[in-house]
Amino acid sequence: MENSFKGRSLCVIDDFSKEERLYFFSLVRRLQEAVRTNDEAAVDSFRIKDPDFGIYEVFLEDSTRTKESFRNAANFHHVKLTEMNTEHSSFNKSESYADTFNTLCGYNNRIFVIRSKVEGVCRYLKEECTAYARRNGLPYVPAFINAGDGKHEHPTQELLDEYTFLQDNGWDTGSIHIALVGDLYHGRTVHSKVNGLTLWKSVKVDLIAPEELAMPEHYVVQMRENGFDVRLFGSIEEYLAQADVAGKWYFTRPQLERMGEKILAKADRLRASITFRPEFMDRLPQDTRFYHPLPRHKVHPTIPTFLDDTPLNGWERQSINGMFCRIVLLGLVAGKLGGDFVPTAAPEAAPEEEWIREIIPDGAPKKEEVSEGVRPIRNGIVIDHICRGDQPEEIRRHMILIRRVMNLDGLKGGEWVSQSSDGRFKGIIFRPGNFTLDHKQVKRLAAVAPGCTLNIIKDGRVAKKYRTSLPPRIYNFDDLMCLNEACISNDSQNENVQAMFLKTGDGRYRCAYCGKVHTFKEIFRH
Ligand code: NCD
Repeated sequence: MENSFKGRSLCVIDDFSKEERLYFFSLVRRLQEAVRTNDEAAVDSFRIKDPDFGIYEVFLEDSTRTKESFRNAANFHHVKLTEMNTEHSSFNKSESYADTFNTLCGYNNRIFVIRSKVEGVCRYLKEECTAYARRNGLPYVPAFINAGDGKHEHPTQELLDEYTFLQDNGWDTGSIHIALVGDLYHGRTVHSKVNGLTLWKSVKVDLIAPEELAMPEHYVVQMRENGFDVRLFGSIEEYLAQADVAGKWYFTRPQLERMGEKILAKADRLRASITFRPEFMDRLPQDTRFYHPLPRHKVHPTIPTFLDDTPLNGWERQSINGMFCRIVLLGLVAGKLGGDFVPTAAPEAAPEEEWIREIIPDGAPKKEEVSEGVRPIRNGIVIDHICRGDQPEEIRRHMILIRRVMNLDGLKGGEWVSQSSDGRFKGIIFRPGNFTLDHKQVKRLAAVAPGCTLNIIKDGRVAKKYRTSLPPRIYNFDDLMCLNEACISNDSQNENVQAMFLKTGDGRYRCAYCGKVHTFKEIFRH
């Protein structure tokens, strides 16, 4: 059977299923046990041992633990490890990510470990370099491991965090109660927890952060959709004033370097609200553990150093676990490990929901439309029920966008806002003429005006009628753009990446690269 881990990329934690992660953790346990008992043969069985196998570390942001644990992990494997000197590369000559990594991919480098400010870069490079490998007949396709991309995710940190939590939980995946404390706004390690913590059946998450550092709303929504019980607190003090305190605390560093001047002025207050103090000690439940992805600030540590030598200290073991997790990860992606993993059959994909529905027209325009001027059109289109329920001002604004997206500007016709009998407003756009909208154009219409009806009028009759709803995926249009400036698909990055969006559970659109959530009104560039 094919090794299902071989050549896999890890761009977000969700790229590995729960059962894959549990299998992964079982290997890390075995490796640690082999090391602990000095079983050299068992340790050796984890090694890739191929001096030509290329692993490339590309760190465009600072790092100690992630970079060095990957480096030590790669050295464990006896492979060809290269660390890119990013200060003296053609990045400085405005070379694109695609050209840079395609080049490196051609030199027998099979795994790339990348840290960048640019979000979604691994997902994009996976597509781009796979195409490069194929068109150049390379005998492999490269894998990409996200070692932290901007404020987005840090999936390998998530793996070692989950491993450490499990270790302290007696390997139980029944339930977890965890407090996430600190900079939940910038902290990519806590963003990976949004889907990562689904490893446990019952999850209670307490978010402790002042407003300025609060978890972005779409992540809170996602956690609740994942079934987590989520509570929000503004400071540790406020948290400890109530009785239900978590036994696991995950601290993250206030990333003041990513903030503007205004916030820096409030730095002391922000730090104080998320810093642990001696007087809090007796309010912790028994066996509480603290964790931290590190680094901590040497002048303003949120976990003060007096706690290092107490049973609260989980962060040192967490950091040590990091290297073992990365050894196993590289071994799996190289195809050295994982040959015995048998995934349970994937559940059958739900049938794609119908988002363009053809309605059998009743032959004649409806009465209300007659009174609003549709009848004069012998041939043309009428887009009806636009933004039903919104305010007239908002509908008018959105109709401008619809006209542009559908290329309806500069043509004869008109549009207006009307009120239905139930009192709700809706927009109508009509254009006389001979229109044939193909599937792609109807999809565009569904994306920009979900819930509308499209009437195609021929010889004074409604020849075809469609009702649209939000498509599950929107891509392959030149004028889409993710609004996150740090995203690889945002224009400001100049990487020429076409945006792609996936519908969320609550009817919004998540960028396939950086995860930013948009309303349907926001995804077209105009
Ligand atoms: C973190 C990171 O870079 O995301 N550290 C880490 O990788 N262990 C957290 C941080 O920078 O504060």
